[in-house]
Amino acid sequence: MSTSNVEVTLEPLISDKKRFFVTADEILQPSEARETFRKHFLSVPIEQHGKQWGALWDDGKFLPWDKLCASPALEDLMAQKEQLDIFKAHTKKRALVPGCGRGYDALLFAENGYYTVGVEISGSAVREAKKWVAQQIAEGKVDKKDMASCEFILADFFEDEWLKVLDIEHRGGFELVYDYAFLVAMNPTMRKKWAARMAELITPGTGLLVCLEYPLFRPAETGGPPHGITSSDYDTLLRNDFDKVMHYMPKRTHKVGEGSDMISVWKRKEVSKL
Ligand SMILES: C[S@@+](CC[C@H](N)C(=O)[O-])C[C@H]1O[C@@H](n2cnc3c(N)ncnc32)[C@H](O)[C@@H]1O
Repeated sequence: MSTSNVEVTLEPLISDKKRFFVTADEILQPSEARETFRKHFLSVPIEQHGKQWGALWDDGKFLPWDKLCASPALEDLMAQKEQLDIFKAHTKKRALVPGCGRGYDALLFAENGYYTVGVEISGSAVREAKKWVAQQIAEGKVDKKDMASCEFILADFFEDEWLKVLDIEHRGGFELVYDYAFLVAMNPTMRKKWAARMAELITPGTGLLVCLEYPLFRPAETGGPPHGITSSDYDTLLRNDFDKVMHYMPKRTHKVGEGSDMISVWKRKEVSKL
């Protein structure tokens, strides 16, 4: 669906709801909220974690990851894209945000001229994302100059059906993919599968995977979500199929990652070079 046929519903969004875990200190504190989040997934088989995310979105009262805005670090990277050859190489301009939540980062890509798909395993999240985009447009907050379509689809990132529905190449169909709080939302046993899926979906030779590396402040043994990770974990997962072309500490990022978040940008290797 393109943004032009998104239904506009002007209900108040969630700005009045309680925010959780604004800073790294808060997320590291043993607290009732932290334990609720951890236990929500702990005793449930991994195959059912999608339903667990769905239950949180359906309830709508405990969405500690939802920052109510696009990633400032991604905004700053997008503002530089005209100066960066790695972005100028994109011709089809098809972007993907897996586990897109309320769609803030997907909308940012669309405003930057990428035909963007946000994939969510929760129907409520998809509805919220469509509502968010429609509301932003209705309130005149969207930069429409280079705007491309912004679609949201209810699907499991690891399944193939949604690619068929959208008529997107199963292999290498996306030139730009963004991961924030998606890899680390999943049980760490899923990480190799995540890396293999990224390699499958991203265009060889030109496609980029942008990772907002988070939570780098968190020891892995404290559990999750979000599960602690290190920059070298990203290297181990991605180096076979990708070249790391940028790695830096962004000047701006969500408050919870200030002083620790890193951005890494990975270019998919040519298949012949693998
Ligand atoms: C921690 S949240 C982050 C959301 C978003 N990236 C943000 O920063 O607001 C992780 C999201 O991934 C979604 N998710 C989990 N597993 C998924 C899967 N297999 N396919 C698609 N979405 C998934 C959840 O519903 C949840 O909205």
